Amino acid sequence: MCGIVGYIGKRDVAPLLLEGLQRLEYRGYDSAGIAIHSKAGGGGLKTAKAKGRVRELESLLPKRFAGNTGIAHTRWATHGAPNDVNAHPHLDAEGKVAVVHNGIIDNADELRAKLAADGVEFASDTDTEILAHLIGRSQAEKLEEKVRQALRLIEGTYGIAVLHADFPDRIVVARNGSPVVLGIGEREMFVSSDVAALVSHTRQVVTLDDGEMATLKADDYRTYTTEGSRTSAAPTTVEWEAESYDMGGHDTYMHKEISEQADAVDRVLRGRIDDRFSTVHLGGLNLDAREARGVRRVKILGCGSAYHAGQIGAQLIEELARIPADAEPASEFRYRNAVVDPDTLYIAVSQSGETYDTLAAVQELKRKGARVLGVVNVVGSAIARETDGGVYVHAGPEVCVVSTKCFTNTAVAFALLALHLGRIRDLSVADGKRIIAGLRKLPEQIAEVLRGEEDIRKLAAEYADAKSMMFVGRVRGYPVAREASLKLKEVSYVHAEAYPASELKHGPLALIEPAVPTVAIVPDDDLLEKNRATLEEIKARSGRILAVAHQEQDKADHTIVVPKNEVELDPILMGVPLQLLAYHSALALGRDIDKPRNLAKSVTVE
Ligand code: F6R
Repeated sequence: MCGIVGYIGKRDVAPLLLEGLQRLEYRGYDSAGIAIHSKAGGGGLKTAKAKGRVRELESLLPKRFAGNTGIAHTRWATHGAPNDVNAHPHLDAEGKVAVVHNGIIDNADELRAKLAADGVEFASDTDTEILAHLIGRSQAEKLEEKVRQALRLIEGTYGIAVLHADFPDRIVVARNGSPVVLGIGEREMFVSSDVAALVSHTRQVVTLDDGEMATLKADDYRTYTTEGSRTSAAPTTVEWEAESYDMGGHDTYMHKEISEQADAVDRVLRGRIDDRFSTVHLGGLNLDAREARGVRRVKILGCGSAYHAGQIGAQLIEELARIPADAEPASEFRYRNAVVDPDTLYIAVSQSGETYDTLAAVQELKRKGARVLGVVNVVGSAIARETDGGVYVHAGPEVCVVSTKCFTNTAVAFALLALHLGRIRDLSVADGKRIIAGLRKLPEQIAEVLRGEEDIRKLAAEYADAKSMMFVGRVRGYPVAREASLKLKEVSYVHAEAYPASELKHGPLALIEPAVPTVAIVPDDDLLEKNRATLEEIKARSGRILAVAHQEQDKADHTIVVPKNEVELDPILMGVPLQLLAYHSALALGRDIDKPRNLAKSVTVE
């Protein structure tokens, strides 16, 4: 999804901005552009924009594009087709104001009509251009006030960066629903919508809150609210290294991130296990034992893979803590005027911590007085800051659009939370010990699954002719089936459907035929015989079956055998080979694995 980069300092700005945009390429975009305060001629703003990749923009830049202050953008089309004209930055009528914008202006049609009636001629179809005109037409003296006046007229979400030809010593930025992070350097300042674009230059960052603005000068910055009162956002240090954003010898980020999972799981466990009391310490939870005992229900909210990890989490919490728990897509929850119960613990789950639907659900819950925790990967992200406490997932940066290592780490983080809640309630010491031993085994078991990659590659080739794939699992296996099905469709574009194995005979069995193979999750638990009966039903309809199980399944055509752990933890491990299956299916089909069509990392708009 759209990305913003900006710089003010002493260095040549264009190469810095292009490098920043390249760091944001993983988020998905369709066009790119740049605006600078030009050193050449009589000064003023210079812009260049192009549909397509950042390297196409680079090839367009004239030799004389010198300056030390600039903003740049990668666009993911919302208002108006992806083309050169609609690419950001957008200028006002006089070409004095340049704006880059992430988000959506909801009252764009109305504002556009008003401006047009006043004689404004629009160069593009975008909502962003409206902002440039509004800022340009403001009679206020200071740039900050011009931007503030324009923002007062806007309904919707934004992360913006603004240049003005008459104010060459500053960049003004603002945030409402779309991330804006300032990077503090040595007599230079950076801004971006994502720390990924900053970490190769500085690890000192300030994350703006919604309703906050900032003025960046080369050796100084100031933050304040959109009403104008000063705020004191303290800088924090980003822990992730710039190298964690590199491909590290892999052909794709997806492959790199799948391969990193043993280390990532090791990280989420590190320093948290308390053998003395057979439990775990979760430092940032902000939920004491008395409060934990008072929880009568747990409701987990997230989107996509985060929601599926939340489903695994809900089952773990029910099983280990015996608290009724369920997961729901945050994107649905926020629209259904849900009954908010004071004894329910709400948990928002998100890799990026910026997914708009999840953030909006959190804000609605908080408004209604609920206690909301976060299970989040990106430290200091909007959801991490809006929630009352929570568990960081520590997966490290996830660059590939589709989630893999973060899904697995989130499921482990939920296992830790479930164990913690369980040991405060009725989970015995013996069961606590058993789960801890199982958790400790996970990194090596994941490594073992990953060593079987070559076999999974061959299986992917075997099933590459499928016109559609069914994924089935029962109870613990069902979220695994759902996540595996999502993964396959996202990266390979093969149609896939996930169903509870128990529901197959109530309808979807009609789809089974040789061209529609089934991937069945068959853990060695109390439902093994039921699952074997499902395999039988599929076989009887000439369906091909690939089982993921703890032992060879005679009723399946192929089995991926995964090591056995505690039954409660089985779903965590059983998802890993199916990430590889999706990866190799996509590779065999020649897909753009890290940037699947129509998708973007971190959906920060509605
Ligand atoms: C799937 C995927 C998406 C995200 C979803 C939520 O591979 O990546 O479904 O899981 O958009 O994103 P976060 O976790 O950042 O809130």
